[in-house]
Amino acid sequence: MVNRSRARQTRLYLDGFAGKYPAVPLTPQLLERQALRKLSARAGGYIAGGAGAERTMAANREAFDRRRIVQRVLRDAANRDLSVELFGQRLPLPMLLAPIGVLELAHNQADLAAARAAAEEGIPFVASSQASFPLEDIARANGGGCRWFQLYWSARDEIARSFVRRAEAAGYSAIVVTLDTTELGWRPRDLSRGYLPFMAGRGIANYVSDPVFNKIEVEDQRAQGGMPPLRFGLIRSALELICSWPEGAFQGLRSGSGMMRAIRKFIALYSRPDLTWDDLPRLREWTRLPIVLKGIVHPEDARRAIGLGMDGVIVSNHGGRQVDGAIGALDALPKVVDAISGAAPVLFDSGIRTGADIIKALALGARAVLVGRPYAYGLALGGEAGVRAVIANLAADLDANLGLSGHRTLSELDRSILADTV
Ligand code: FNR
Repeated sequence: MVNRSRARQTRLYLDGFAGKYPAVPLTPQLLERQALRKLSARAGGYIAGGAGAERTMAANREAFDRRRIVQRVLRDAANRDLSVELFGQRLPLPMLLAPIGVLELAHNQADLAAARAAAEEGIPFVASSQASFPLEDIARANGGGCRWFQLYWSARDEIARSFVRRAEAAGYSAIVVTLDTTELGWRPRDLSRGYLPFMAGRGIANYVSDPVFNKIEVEDQRAQGGMPPLRFGLIRSALELICSWPEGAFQGLRSGSGMMRAIRKFIALYSRPDLTWDDLPRLREWTRLPIVLKGIVHPEDARRAIGLGMDGVIVSNHGGRQVDGAIGALDALPKVVDAISGAAPVLFDSGIRTGADIIKALALGARAVLVGRPYAYGLALGGEAGVRAVIANLAADLDANLGLSGHRTLSELDRSILADTV
């Protein structure tokens, strides 16, 4: 059995001995700080920011800090197994890369680099509906890796259905439906800069490459906004739009009005604010892939999901980007786990920063966790290698803490290993 912690530590210490230091910092605070130093203020604000006063982001971290691991000793935890079973597949680590839209803000290889890194490290990549490359390209980059597709249910069923069909054809093995983003959260960092990447044509590659989306005509929305006066900012935005166009700057320049039409159409159609539980059976009919609902924090919603034949849930508050003042995701986890009582796997995200965080989430009943912002920061700092470093460091940190707390396998973790400090 590989001792991931020892192997990673040896590598880092030997590199340091030879005068080579990690390009991707090892503490979450430094990782974020260095990435934000590299990114533009707009890109950094979009990735790092949250809703309102960012109290949900704070609550996510506070929920981890309040719980402490109580280690056990003299139990021979020398050989450890970090693998878990998920939807019939054995994964080497209890980790997935969370769906993150508009990754091109972090690196020009965006989802392609992240999907490659996930495949190399053996963990699933969850591709966002709002990816920077079409899901088929991401699948090719992911190669023989495990990949899931995250669906934003569009205002038009036929687009959602087309996405699901394309994901099936491209070898995605589960559909994650994100339910907490029926509309954009109130995000002051972006609002104060007037910056929404989709308006610059970013994060819409899945839409403009979709045959159904391209056939749909929507009422022209231009009347609602009006054109701002011509000044430097507008020219900069226009240039960003042309350069970021999924088919390339040349094509973007050639089809300027088509580009604007596609963006307006995306903004009109990307979400479905009036989605209800009654819509889910249709999705169940469209696909035989496992369906996982993301954004569940209430036990009653979890019970309802399983009652409707959903295959799993992700306890998540979208990293604090949607509801401000919401319950910390980790605080919501135990009740959701109890409500489902083993009928389906419960996954978790929002606030995972270290190996100890993963242990805490697993001890409270999560089968696996999704890593969010940290991998976007790794991507910003080092592309594919940066994402690999973030995954490898988290895995080694998890491995060390598992062994040092006296456990050999993840199935040994339960609530009894945690002390609540309040
Ligand atoms: C997200 N998240 C997200 N979720 C989703 O289902 N579809 C998406 O397109 C996106 N896009 C996105 C963009 C950015 C910049 C961020 C930071 C997050 C939410 C993501 O999947 C996950 O729930 C959070 O990132 C988890 O919180 P932490 O760990 O990043 O704090």
